[in-house]
Amino acid sequence: MTKTSPTPDDQTPTRKAPEETRLRSRMTGALRGEDAGTTHTLTGWVHRRRDLGGLLFVDLRDGSGLVQVSFGPDWTDSETLERAHRLGAEDVIRITGEVILRPQDARNPELATGDIEVQARSLERLNRARTPAIPVYRGPDDELPAEELRLRHRHLDLRRTPLQENLALRHRLVLATRNYFDALGFLEVETPVLTKPTPEGARDYLVPSRVHPGEFYALPQSPQIYKQILMTAGFDRYMQIARCFRDEDLRADRQPEFTQIDVEAAFVGADDVLEWIEGLMETLGQVAGVEADAPFQRMSWARAMDRYGSDRPDLRWDLHLHDWTESLGTADSNILRGAVEKGGRIRGLRLEGGAELSRRQVEAIEDQAKAAGAPGLLWAKRTADGGSGPLSRWLEEEHWGALEAREGDLVLVAAGADRITSPALAAARRGAIEALELPRARDHAWLWVLDFPLFEEEDGVIFPNHHPFVLPHPDDADRLAEDPLSVRGVAYDLVYNGSELGSGSLRIHDPKLQRGVLELLGLDADEIDRKFGFLLEALASGAPPHGGIALGMDRIVKDFLGAPSLRDVIAFPKTTAARALFEGAPSEVTEGELADLHLNIRSRDTRGEEPA
Ligand code: AMO
Repeated sequence: MTKTSPTPDDQTPTRKAPEETRLRSRMTGALRGEDAGTTHTLTGWVHRRRDLGGLLFVDLRDGSGLVQVSFGPDWTDSETLERAHRLGAEDVIRITGEVILRPQDARNPELATGDIEVQARSLERLNRARTPAIPVYRGPDDELPAEELRLRHRHLDLRRTPLQENLALRHRLVLATRNYFDALGFLEVETPVLTKPTPEGARDYLVPSRVHPGEFYALPQSPQIYKQILMTAGFDRYMQIARCFRDEDLRADRQPEFTQIDVEAAFVGADDVLEWIEGLMETLGQVAGVEADAPFQRMSWARAMDRYGSDRPDLRWDLHLHDWTESLGTADSNILRGAVEKGGRIRGLRLEGGAELSRRQVEAIEDQAKAAGAPGLLWAKRTADGGSGPLSRWLEEEHWGALEAREGDLVLVAAGADRITSPALAAARRGAIEALELPRARDHAWLWVLDFPLFEEEDGVIFPNHHPFVLPHPDDADRLAEDPLSVRGVAYDLVYNGSELGSGSLRIHDPKLQRGVLELLGLDADEIDRKFGFLLEALASGAPPHGGIALGMDRIVKDFLGAPSLRDVIAFPKTTAARALFEGAPSEVTEGELADLHLNIRSRDTRGEEPA
């Protein structure tokens, strides 16, 4: 099962406890009932202190969990007891004491160490903590402080068990990934971080060169070109846990720097890559307790867009779109007819029992569709006396029949070009699922979306759907010149519960074809040589057919945990305004540093700043 709620603060992480060091004999989280009668030296932070008259209880926390330490006149000398009373939250201490079994009625089954406590004989304060800016201990009813505050004091926020657990899971997933690929003969090769721009559709982070005035490195948006060059260099199978950098609008599932599991192999077909990744997901799923039964469902991009309006449909729900162009095109409505006459389609959702939603709820769904770019949604409820809602006045009995709508159902309809209606209907599908609280058909929905179009078009300009190195589908390649928008790529995306976890393709290995595709994208010969000459040269030197994929490591951890944001699985994340609040980056530099880099600042306009 995916974990849907964070682990409470007082629960022990599942990480194996490292034990003895020069300063301690055990870690707190590892102590159990069978240790009763033994004496241990423990180190850690004062998580919580409770003063019960003569007795003092301290929850002592370290990287493995926490244990209750008691100070009392029967086993602690008075000087130590007095010092214990002066301990403050988050002080760093070292105690020695005897493990004893708690009386039955004082045991805490929620805590791994809940059967015991440690009666302290000695206490040493290793370091004092100033009053924490945000509390690390939280009672059951205490809310988390605002996220901006937590990011500003990330070192304290990271002391919370849920974040420690998230990062521990991330570690185990990275380790399992390396072991998995190692067993398959993949070699991890590091590629440069100071490099040339790699086109993945975002802006580059640029690094000015001090020694070459006016010249810049780009931080890699991905290791895409390097991994292809490694294939031409004869490395049969490559992988890398690679840091990537993209200057793009941030959302809950995007960070400006993030980590990919980057994979490439020579002499492969797409199925080889898909099967390797399915195996990886089964392996990682076992580590995280997430079901991933291969083979995963496969669906063409065209079908995904047709049935779900999205290239990453969340198939935990079976609800899908219907094409009602034929059945509703005859309705006496200018909107519907007009859309069809202009070559559009009429598509929609039939929601069983949806008539129970109030007008306001339906309009809220419509608002979501509008936010996704549609002028509006038409809707109708089928009621005992016919229907209600804006669409109903055009619906005759035959139409209701064709929609297969029964009394109590709601239909939501969008008419027009797929380009507009698909995102709107996908948003309406999400909104309807939420509003009706539709039960899931399954908890873990894995999907491969295949055969993406090679190109997209906006305002008459074509640009790559993924990147310009995707191999055109062999069945479509002869249409490249005259109808490029109809050409599919041998490209695949991995989707888990509606989230795009990864994306890959077979690549062009023929330098002539690669040059042709770059030309189609509007690059002239000079630009091609300047930007991609090194790749073309490598391809011309005997490049094997090759292909690969990159998976978002951060997204995998986030989605496996069911966490709301990537910030929950990255130790030092950026805000949505791309700021690091804890260390304060980006930051201004001195005139001298600018001069060294041959730079002038033209303006310090800070428009676009947003809160975390
Ligand atoms: P793509 O750009 O689709 O493909 O990226 C692959 C995967 O990386 C993750 N990802 C991100 N995660 C967090 N924050 C971001 N800003 C971000 N951007 C992308 C996603 C995505 O599916 N070179 C190609 C892969 C290839 O063709 O082999 C590439 O980078 O999970």
